[in-house]
Amino acid sequence: MLKHPLPRLDKDDELRNLLLPYCRFKTGTIWYDKTAGHKIGCGDATDHKLLDKIFKEKKSTLAIHDPPYNFIAFQKSDVIHFIEWSKKWIKITYDYLEKNSSIYIWLGADQKNNFQPLASFIEMMSTTKFKSKSFITMRNQRGFGTSQNWMSIRQELLFYVKGKPKFNVEAEYTEIPKVLKGYYKKVNGIVTENIERSKSENIRAGNVWIDIQQVFYRMEENVNGCFAQKPLKAIERIIIASSEENEIVCDFFAHSGTTLLASEKLNRKCFTIDIDPVFCEISRRRLELFRKTGKTGWQNSNPFYNEIIKDKKLKNYLKKKYQIEYR
Ligand SMILES: C[S@@+](CC[C@H](N)C(=O)[O-])C[C@H]1O[C@@H](n2cnc3c(N)ncnc32)[C@H](O)[C@@H]1O
Repeated sequence: MLKHPLPRLDKDDELRNLLLPYCRFKTGTIWYDKTAGHKIGCGDATDHKLLDKIFKEKKSTLAIHDPPYNFIAFQKSDVIHFIEWSKKWIKITYDYLEKNSSIYIWLGADQKNNFQPLASFIEMMSTTKFKSKSFITMRNQRGFGTSQNWMSIRQELLFYVKGKPKFNVEAEYTEIPKVLKGYYKKVNGIVTENIERSKSENIRAGNVWIDIQQVFYRMEENVNGCFAQKPLKAIERIIIASSEENEIVCDFFAHSGTTLLASEKLNRKCFTIDIDPVFCEISRRRLELFRKTGKTGWQNSNPFYNEIIKDKKLKNYLKKKYQIEYR
């Protein structure tokens, strides 16, 4: 892949506006993918009408949501506002989920601000009909911190259910071999240690995932321009654990289209939306790229390379503001 980065799009409105003419989405657009039955809609996660049009009479068995929360300035009122807004898309999700289904939500906990918004979000979820199932932590490779505190290296993932959905425990097995012996127990009069007794030679992921690489520019799945991309491996693990082939997986915050791509790879249908036409376009392009080349992202290049190279205004803008040269 060529080395053509694209700066974070959420931090540069001018760049976003220069890319908008190349997007096949605007607010209200729904793209129906005739090949596999996926849908991408452009709009707000609380827009009932848009979601009605996407789902029609259908329901999903799995929701994977990764809402934006970094915009919260962590004033008390911001957290209250975020929770009120979250209540709405959580309720909508409940309505579009099957009787027995699962929901996973990625959310941050700011340690400088009473672990918000996670703390209030968990409280809010206790007032809904969802039942709590697990609180997963995914360990990042890189962290941030000072010498005065524990380094912050986790991403939080909440797992709730509606009814009694299936859970495919096979999805839990990692590629990490069991190395620690111990835990001796008598089975049929013979003393065995735990590795002899277990079903697999590898450890289960459990609720602390240490085997997933954070996305960065050297990985093929990297999507330049995106700022909050989740690793495909994490989303695939969730999909395999909590859905079956041909079922519908929904995601109301598409961004780089990770849930869409993982659904495509695993033969599920994905109904996804994003409020921003540029991220809807990126999600669609990522699916198209995968179908054409088998690649899961642009690594060092980006989804709009072919347009940027021909667009003088865009080229000059990237050169002047970021010293990025497109030749
Ligand atoms: C944290 S990112 C999701 C990342 C995604 N899981 C991935 O792997 O690429 C959040 C996304 O939500 C979108 N978003 C923000 N507000 C929204 C809203 N009200 N309704 C729908 N999408 C929204 C943003 O444009 C952004 O792309």
